Amino acid sequence: MFNKPTDTLTLSNGVKIPCLGYGTWQTPAGGVACEGVKTALKCGYRHIDTANAYGNEEDVGKGIKESGVPREEIFLTTKHWITERGYTKTIATVEDSLKNLGVDYLDLYLVHWPCVAKSNPKWKEINAATWRGFEKMYKDGKIRAIGVSNYLPEQLDALFETAEIKPMVNQIEFHPGYYQPELVRWCKAHNMVVEAWSPLGCGAVLSDPTLAKIAAKYGKSIAQVCIRFALQYGVVPMPKSTHADRIADNMKVFDFDLSDDDMTAIMTMPPVGYSTYHPTEAPADTLFGGGYDID
Ligand code: A2P
Repeated sequence: MFNKPTDTLTLSNGVKIPCLGYGTWQTPAGGVACEGVKTALKCGYRHIDTANAYGNEEDVGKGIKESGVPREEIFLTTKHWITERGYTKTIATVEDSLKNLGVDYLDLYLVHWPCVAKSNPKWKEINAATWRGFEKMYKDGKIRAIGVSNYLPEQLDALFETAEIKPMVNQIEFHPGYYQPELVRWCKAHNMVVEAWSPLGCGAVLSDPTLAKIAAKYGKSIAQVCIRFALQYGVVPMPKSTHADRIADNMKVFDFDLSDDDMTAIMTMPPVGYSTYHPTEAPADTLFGGGYDID
């Protein structure tokens, strides 16, 4: 089990990924993301997750630079947005993200959302073309690892038909109250590391009574229990906060173990905090072309 945030999991290509990340979804640019990243790096996080669609890549890059932490000590992820699908656009958008972030390589680059059957009859070809762009940038050394986000087995199986390099990561919604156990199992069986977006359910699980009882038992906060739950489940959590005290607290999750009974209690608690941002359950037009309002 992990002892500190810089302990790593190994991706299928041998690249090591720190077990705890700092998330930046819904962290505004204009200085907030920059300060958050600097605080996180000062606290000891070495894994930062952003996305082109978050609109804060420049700020995140500024935070990295101003932190003084050497680039090679940081595991940096960003994501490809749905408007940039296809081989050529993908290559261009990687270059844009590198420029925005002020770096010359990414540690991990993710397809943010799959194109799905109900959105576009050519979904397989579109996803395959985007992935070819990923493979090209990976082979060119601009990206150390490539993966997907919010993919289900249906889209992954389709991608495997043409992929030369298999995705190394799937980043999905994962938190107490909505933890997608079948999908996690499937990904692990296919040699993918699973990352958790919104490990605190976007804040929606932080007043849950089951979690409150468990947290009190360990003298921990509910947020810390959620983060620990992901770690013990073998999933990489990336909690987001813009508050320095919370950023620090969210890292203090390596000095306690949730018992098997408490893990089971979390896994069987009533559903809570599901975002509804899901490739097949969300409305079709939000996932191809139309929508900019989903993670
Ligand atoms: P804030 O950024 O104001 O601190 P998730 O990572 O699941 O998306 O959840 C992020 C939400 O949880 C944000 O609203 C964030 O608010 C809040 N949050 C993050 N860490 C904590 C914490 N330790 N205690 C309470 N709320 C937290």
